[in-house]
Amino acid sequence: MEKLIVEGGRPLHGTVRISGAKNAALPLIAATLLAPGQHRLGNVPDLRDTRTFLKLMENLGVRHERQGDALLIDSTNLNGSEAPYELVKTMRASVLVLGPLLARLGRAKVSLPGGCAIGARPINFHIMGLEKLGVTCRLEHGYVDAEIAGRMQGSTIYFDIPSVTGTENLLMAAVMAEGTTIMKNAAREPEIANLIDMLTGMGADIEGRNTDKLTIRGVPQLGTADCDIIPDRIEAGTYLIALVATGGEGTVTHCNPAHLPSLLEKLRAAGIIVEETETTISVRWPKDAAGQKSLKSVDIKTMPFPGYPTDLQAQFMALMSLSSDICVITETIFENRFMHVAELQRMGAGIRIDGHSCVVSGRGLQGLSGAPVMATDLRASSSLVIAGLAATGRTEISRIYHLERGYENLVEKLTGLGASVWKEEE
Ligand code: EPZ
Repeated sequence: MEKLIVEGGRPLHGTVRISGAKNAALPLIAATLLAPGQHRLGNVPDLRDTRTFLKLMENLGVRHERQGDALLIDSTNLNGSEAPYELVKTMRASVLVLGPLLARLGRAKVSLPGGCAIGARPINFHIMGLEKLGVTCRLEHGYVDAEIAGRMQGSTIYFDIPSVTGTENLLMAAVMAEGTTIMKNAAREPEIANLIDMLTGMGADIEGRNTDKLTIRGVPQLGTADCDIIPDRIEAGTYLIALVATGGEGTVTHCNPAHLPSLLEKLRAAGIIVEETETTISVRWPKDAAGQKSLKSVDIKTMPFPGYPTDLQAQFMALMSLSSDICVITETIFENRFMHVAELQRMGAGIRIDGHSCVVSGRGLQGLSGAPVMATDLRASSSLVIAGLAATGRTEISRIYHLERGYENLVEKLTGLGASVWKEEE
């Protein structure tokens, strides 16, 4: 196993190019199951999670070839309908094959994912929606065993809470159903709009893109896809926070600022100058801050898009640990997403957990000190990297395989910004 060493205390500067979004790539790869033929996806990040997903696709008889950042996926010889526990347990998003397999084959057997480091994360909405479409789902031996004779039947589906992969799974199921499906209180994260664009390009009829009400008029079959993955808004946000946390300045490129409305406002509220073009975001300190930079404390509360993303909560907490006052960070999406707190405390952060909120007493820029810490999940790990970059001295982060699930070329990109960071065997 490898660990990441960070020699902190150096302001980051420069430009970093953002990769394609992990959480868009996974559903879009799954959607290639819907129609036989050769599909092309562009801007696909090469990550542990995309590789795991492609392994799952291979298990189903789907071949792929990488050409630069594009993936050519041939789903003609689909010959399986099972997502086994060994793969699902390492990546919950494997559940995304459920909808498209049912649409194409009328059957699917997918392992129940179980809990994970950030919460229980059930898939009851996915199952409820499929049953509404006429699918029979049996939960046996740790698996969802689902089948339907003939096409699914359009229906009305209401989500108690907007679910990202739930909306994606049911979209992929409903596009080839007989009749019209209406989804209410659907999630409207940008990754869903990306999936809708791909499905529409394949011949699907979907209305309501970027809204919480989706109307899907089923079609008997779909054609092949040619679609680009959107930029990774969470990766972009992570680098913006890292630039600011180290007292540095810089620009993230090849991103979409419209996908990060809440973070950009929160950075502005903290006193940072944020400039946007169509595809870049720059952060810099006000002129009079030279020599005495300080960050204002800003409260955040995680919410479904366009609210503040839960996937940037841990990173913002690392940033607020370096602010000048006190703020409250509230997590409303996952019940156990404060695993980074104990690790940040080891670096000197002043954080107190109070139910679903954390009270963060900022220590000022350079107020943290390097320490050995442990990565617990993907985004928690990136908050430790940010803290390590800002802290004085050396931070050693173990279990960095979590980071490799979702950040492409992390070490190279940070090095390009002037960070002193490298991997070592544990
Ligand atoms: C997606 O997870 C992302 N994963 C997560 O990213 C992200 O944190 C999350 O959305 C929220 O934005 C992918 O896109 C692959 P949800 P997902 O269903 O779809 C509850 C990362 O680090 N719920 O939107 O699994 C659930 O417990 C990851 O990249 C049910 O109760 O999340 C949560 O409270 C981690 N029953 C809320 O809904 C269900 O059937 C929203 O979860 C489904 C969800």
